[in-house]
Amino acid sequence: MLKLTGRLCPALVILAILLSVHSSAHDVITTPITFSREISRLVYNRCAVCHREGGIAFSLLTYAEARPWAKAIKEEVLERRMPPWGAVKGFGEFQDDQGLTGEQLELIADWVEGGAPEGDPKYLPKLPDFQPAASAGPAPAGIPVESELTLTTAVAVAGVRAKGVPEGSSFMAVAERPDGTIEPLVWIYDYHPRFDHPYWYNAPLRFQAGTKIEIAPRGAGSIALLMRNPAARSKPRDHR
Ligand code: HEC
Repeated sequence: MLKLTGRLCPALVILAILLSVHSSAHDVITTPITFSREISRLVYNRCAVCHREGGIAFSLLTYAEARPWAKAIKEEVLERRMPPWGAVKGFGEFQDDQGLTGEQLELIADWVEGGAPEGDPKYLPKLPDFQPAASAGPAPAGIPVESELTLTTAVAVAGVRAKGVPEGSSFMAVAERPDGTIEPLVWIYDYHPRFDHPYWYNAPLRFQAGTKIEIAPRGAGSIALLMRNPAARSKPRDHR
């Protein structure tokens, strides 16, 4: 350890010593889960689109890059701050909910608590091919809703996007049909600019003229109603 770090600057050496003393009790590996086998696959699938060289956040692609973040990774995913999504689950039925499954959360927690071992790099999967995602194209134009809007024609809403929302703001958007039924559109919670992405519904929501779109509380943010999901071209969901 000392030999390895001896070439680095003194502050780093001291930090390394402090860390190794501090964490020596935890470095016992007590889990069969490894970065090379399970964690890399999860990270490549769910995190790497942002966490890579040239992405919007620091890289987590290699063990050397991910290991120092192990504790933070566990915390962020268990608190559901990562991957960033921003909408409260169960309020609107979205296609590409970025939340990790219970099993994925457990995998990460077990790996970190078990000493975050690397495992044999020969099990690493191929690095993902980072083509820009279909939804990462220019933001589709939509119908802006500042705080309230009554539709003058029938529309099928494929998704929504938060717009002009101050950081930390929370609000709900609902549609009230002329017959009085309420359709939840989205509940944005503790907004962060990371959440600036479209939320696509499992199936387009159909509203007739006279439907009222409302945002509560007023002024907490606004949304755009999106008409077409560019990523859904190959698998039409609309069977009418
Ligand atoms: C949509 C993009 C995106 C995805 C997907 C994403 N992240 Fe992040 N993450 C970010 C951004 C942006 C930051 C802030 C980076 C910074 O501050 O430099 C961040 C920060 C973090 C941090 C540091 C938090 C802190 O400040 O302590 C951790 C840990 C993290 N992400 C883990 C993950 C993990 C694990 C996944 C996958 C399960 C993931 N992220 C998926 C965008 C993303």
